[in-house]
Amino acid sequence: MDSISIAISKGRIGKEASTVFKKIGLGDSIDINSRKLIFKDEKNKINYIYVKPLDVVTYVQNGVADLGVVGKDIILEKDSDVYEIYDLGFGKCKFAVAGKKNKHTYSKDKLLKVATSYPNITKKYFDKKQQKIKIIKLNGSVELAPLVGLSDVIVDLVETGNTLKANGLYIIEEMFDISARLICNRISYRFKYDRIFNLVEKLKELKH
Ligand code: PRP
Ligand code: MG
Repeated sequence: MDSISIAISKGRIGKEASTVFKKIGLGDSIDINSRKLIFKDEKNKINYIYVKPLDVVTYVQNGVADLGVVGKDIILEKDSDVYEIYDLGFGKCKFAVAGKKNKHTYSKDKLLKVATSYPNITKKYFDKKQQKIKIIKLNGSVELAPLVGLSDVIVDLVETGNTLKANGLYIIEEMFDISARLICNRISYRFKYDRIFNLVEKLKELKH
């Protein structure tokens, strides 16, 4: 049996991924509460590595990990050269433009200041609408920006809507839906196809 390596993104997705792999009998070695970064499952010949979301794609693209579990938001932001082979169905949320008012408040001839942790997704979205923007890249707590006058609007993930609500912000436009995806290195997909196929089948059974 080929051994495989799977990169799991730290945070909310990692937590759910750990539960899913445990459910299909392949996740006994994963302990996301420890400080370890590699979890070895000798019996099933799986090495899990536990890394930051954007780095999941880097590890998979370079072939250090055959597979990765990461949010679609990260895949879109990174514009990477990996196969997206399965929608895991958890980590569901959406991208939205949000601001202090719930209506379309910006105009084409005025430069719109947008705070976001996702500059590429944001640029692409507003380019399509031919809206001139200035991107203010933040690393978190993006909802603060319009409250303190750093930006006019934000582009960010919305899951329950609680963060927007707690900060008096509204969705102006919904952009697209997001969920956790299984990604695969292009070469691994060819050379470890059977193992990968088998894993995806197990994940599919879990969904039904
Ligand atoms: C994420 C995201 C939103 C929030 C959405 O932030 O950036 O702010 O969760 O979830 P909700 O709609 O259920 O409130 P996160 O908590 O990861 O913190 P950060 O942005 O500061 O990294
Ligand atoms: Mg946030």
